[in-house]
Amino acid sequence: MEIIRTVQGLQKAVADARSNNRSIGLVPTMGALHAGHMSLVDRSLKDNGFTVVSVFVNPTQFNNPDDLRTYPRTEEADCRLLEAAGVDVAFIPTVEEMYPQPDTRVFDLGPVAQVMEGAMRPGHFNGVAQVVSRLMVMADPDRAYFGEKDFQQIAVIRRMVEIEKLPVEIVDCPICREPDGLALSSRNVRLTPEQRAIAPARPRTLASGRADAADGNSLRRTVEYVTDTINSFPGMEVEYYEIVDPLTMQPLSEWPAEGGTAVGCVTVWCGDVRLIDNIKYTVKPQH
Ligand code: PAF
Repeated sequence: MEIIRTVQGLQKAVADARSNNRSIGLVPTMGALHAGHMSLVDRSLKDNGFTVVSVFVNPTQFNNPDDLRTYPRTEEADCRLLEAAGVDVAFIPTVEEMYPQPDTRVFDLGPVAQVMEGAMRPGHFNGVAQVVSRLMVMADPDRAYFGEKDFQQIAVIRRMVEIEKLPVEIVDCPICREPDGLALSSRNVRLTPEQRAIAPARPRTLASGRADAADGNSLRRTVEYVTDTINSFPGMEVEYYEIVDPLTMQPLSEWPAEGGTAVGCVTVWCGDVRLIDNIKYTVKPQH
């Protein structure tokens, strides 16, 4: 595996791979890699002849300076994992290399970016669009891989790709969970042992909310049930729980018609750690 820190170096490596007729897979990450990231890497390695993994903590997508400051940075361990997996290039630029000039672009991301994370973290999705569009132009991939834990982020990236007319296929990959159900996240390492011990209450509640919905309860009642149950655990506070349309991200007030799907997206504060998760609902035919 080659560790590349410059845009020029990346472009040369990708051009060489292309001249050998290899398709390019890009896995954008902010490092602190875990099995969730590695599932994206494995998928890219299967689909493509050449895989680039970027490791870059992107300052423009952090609306909270403390979150940026405390975001885990584990470059050596990340490189060991990527090397062992068989990745071709780890692209690890500095902030100056990624942004020689400040990026002032404002993307018209539309309604998908205005709700949930977009409403709670002003500027966050614009920053994600800035960095991902740059990475896509630099690495010129055929496919780029994103995890469904950040469900809304995928919709925003699809929109950015459409606006910028980038010829990249977006591949979304399922959430990876710990055996007790906790969705893997780089921020999990910041949980105290006490917070970690009760953290699975969140995915458990999402799952029992799905059973609640299957019992024929209204969408509003399922939202209340999930919110109230998570809030009843000490030290956990729901910022939002919305059940949304999986394409438009707009909150639903009623379940979709039979066979339709919806996604429940939750953000919970555990002390000063903010964690997100989601669950899919498919409305079953009533007999
Ligand atoms: O999901 C993330 O880790 C980041 O938002 C991404 C896509 C790597 C952009 O910085």
